Amino acid sequence: MADSWSSSVDAHLDWAPGSGRKALADAVRKAIRDGRWQPGAVVPSTRALAHDLGIARGTVTRVYSDLAAEGYLESSQGAPTKVATAGAGPEAIPETAYARKPSPRWNLEPGRPDPSLFPRDLWATAAKRVLQHTPNETFGYGEPRGSLVLRTTLAAYIGRSRGVIADPARIVVCAGFSQAITVLGKALQDLGITEMAFEDPSFNRFRNLAEASGQQIVGVPVDEHGLRVDQLTSPSVVVTPAHQAPIGVTMAPNRRTALAGSGAIVIEDDYDGEFRYDRHQVGALQALAPERVVYSGTASKSLAPSLRLSWLALPRFLVDPVIAALEATGTHPGVLEQLILADMISTRAYDRHVRRCRAEYRSRRDKVVAALPAHLKPHGISAGLHLMLPLSREVEATVPGIAARHSLAIHTLAAHRMTGADNPNGLIVGYGAPARNQFAGTLNALQKLLAEL
Ligand SMILES: Cc1ncc(COP(=O)(O)O)c(C=O)c1O
Repeated sequence: MADSWSSSVDAHLDWAPGSGRKALADAVRKAIRDGRWQPGAVVPSTRALAHDLGIARGTVTRVYSDLAAEGYLESSQGAPTKVATAGAGPEAIPETAYARKPSPRWNLEPGRPDPSLFPRDLWATAAKRVLQHTPNETFGYGEPRGSLVLRTTLAAYIGRSRGVIADPARIVVCAGFSQAITVLGKALQDLGITEMAFEDPSFNRFRNLAEASGQQIVGVPVDEHGLRVDQLTSPSVVVTPAHQAPIGVTMAPNRRTALAGSGAIVIEDDYDGEFRYDRHQVGALQALAPERVVYSGTASKSLAPSLRLSWLALPRFLVDPVIAALEATGTHPGVLEQLILADMISTRAYDRHVRRCRAEYRSRRDKVVAALPAHLKPHGISAGLHLMLPLSREVEATVPGIAARHSLAIHTLAAHRMTGADNPNGLIVGYGAPARNQFAGTLNALQKLLAEL
């Protein structure tokens, strides 16, 4: 019966008690016109609304049938009454600058993992286990620095897999590197440090976030050995030593030693540290100077960016300032997700998943490399989810037009360079981005683009 379907629907109406049937009809019309009662939405049953408003059910029935006659509502035998889907709906609200852009047909943007690789089964199994065993406190606010269970698990995991020197008291869980860099920028500012160097080129998103958190941003060039440590003068610096983003080089051992001993506070963004394809292991720089280097890892590549889960292993002097800055944001990742991740890591389901993804991305990397014309020499192929193809500045400038014609989303270094004409130019191929069943088509679009360059 219609009533029982919809009787549990709560609905707000601008209606004063005792103001009568006409006022009730006006209130429902207004709710529909304003878009508060949306097209297709089930409205409260006549019985429930009459009960909630303290009026006779017959009054509501009359109002609904009048509004159905006017085209505001739709009712049919045996189904709940709904707001009409055509006609009397709200006026279209103009899109804002933040409206979602239509996705391109093919996607090779850097920094994105294949969303179809998310381990739904492993996640569901871990979630079930967590829900069965977790105490009720889990459903409270949680510790701003992150769940102790996850921090303990992570300390062991990053020690084992990345060689990071960490203990749970020095780990802080953040909503992605994006929140981490914001919070670090603020914490350093609170300590009187207001200049942060970034690799040039580097992804502009994180520079913008650091700048918004009060840091003055300075670029330091990168060559085939990584950051030009000899040109670093800032008191703090963000680096991607294992696989430079976006050029792809691995920081040379002498540069790592020089950076660790430079006296600067180093933020090591180990964003794709799990994905190394050659046998040459590159551990975390943090182990060289745990009291100067902040290690940052993220689940955005290994699981999904939508989880917004990352972790920092901090030098002792930064623990309290970072927790204070994090608390000031009033937000941290959901505790349940933290516990699910901890469960996956401690049962080794996470390792199994990462190995599977590594095999998938390595095979994509091989296919991309095999599809390249002989004159293009890829950089950064030993790790990660992207590679870089050097191009001349003139050819680089033609990429956006050609890519748009092939409905291909792809970046060049242009958007990520900070200064000067002698910085590298090239195409960034984010082969992690396409879902499995899109990869062949995407590779084809890339080949067409390269043929036209
Ligand atoms: C260089 C770099 N660092 C970090 C991240 C991860 O950012 P987040 O953890 O906010 O998703 C990305 C993702 O695109 C990246 O490209």
